[in-house]
Amino acid sequence: MKTVLSAIQPTGDMHLGNYFGAVKNWVDLQEKYKCFYGVVDYHAMTMPYQVSKLRTNTWDLITNLVAVGVKPENLFIQSLVPEHTELGWIFNCFCSYGQLTRMTQFKDKSVQVNETTKESFISVGLLDYPVLQTADILIYKADYVPVGKDQEQHLELARDIAQRFNSQVGKEYFVLPEPLYTETPKIRSTADPSKKMSKSAGEKHYINVFADEATIRRQIKSAVTDSGDTPAGSMAEGIQNLFELIKASGWNTEHDHLMRDYNAGSLKYVDLKQVTADALVQLIIPFTEKKKELNADKKHLKDQIKQSSSEVRKVAQQTMREVKELVGLLNV
Ligand code: TRP
Repeated sequence: MKTVLSAIQPTGDMHLGNYFGAVKNWVDLQEKYKCFYGVVDYHAMTMPYQVSKLRTNTWDLITNLVAVGVKPENLFIQSLVPEHTELGWIFNCFCSYGQLTRMTQFKDKSVQVNETTKESFISVGLLDYPVLQTADILIYKADYVPVGKDQEQHLELARDIAQRFNSQVGKEYFVLPEPLYTETPKIRSTADPSKKMSKSAGEKHYINVFADEATIRRQIKSAVTDSGDTPAGSMAEGIQNLFELIKASGWNTEHDHLMRDYNAGSLKYVDLKQVTADALVQLIIPFTEKKKELNADKKHLKDQIKQSSSEVRKVAQQTMREVKELVGLLNV
């Protein structure tokens, strides 16, 4: 069975954009691959962050992932597998400084730091983070990494580092990881469909996966449909977005039916919104119930994740032993 690795940073609520864009894919991939899914808390320290929130965010994300169907045995917490940072150090010595400064995400994020903090504190961690990401991937010798556009360059770097490592030690040791492209829907903000759904834009711009029914219905009811500046003959982004949500929720028959109405010019937006809200509510009810169940016995889930992290760690430790041997470090 081929191996998949993916990881996500612990930062607050999970919204429908995260769920449909990435997490749902994680759930589906579990059927076909051996999956390693990391909650990468070391990565969450690369941007200014609140110390008091990191640990709770980590456990909350774990709970949310399990609630939507990620198997606990596939999950691990990065800081419970310290070999990631150990291998990251070694990879630092196989990666050029220039290549890191050219990463587009580094350039974008260093500007963001300036804007939000009004200071120019850009940590070495932010620059170095793609090297740690490389370690995340290679330490499990992952065949595939499900990627979105924003992570392509980092995966390219991982392949470069693997190649440089292999040629330096004179052995095809690391597998070059391949991107795994999956069509995932891009969900937009219902309050401003010109933007993608995201937390950074503010509360009304995202729908929490664990919102209660009333909140979801309210948010869909107030969704912007047509801002009025859509060119004739094309569908307004807000309407596209509602159709996208219906389809992503698996309501294909309803989707096609409403699309016929749209094409015939007889679609009523209230009906479109009604179906969107119904589809989302039906989708999230089991998630919310599962989350309640998990929260009723937090210790059990924590124990499971500590256990799965220590299982995963065995794989990482084996890789580290081999790597140390290859690069001339001591194994005692
Ligand atoms: N950099 C990714 C992000 O910001 C998270 C991440 C860390 C990751 N390590 C990874 C993704 C390894 C895929 C593989 O979204």
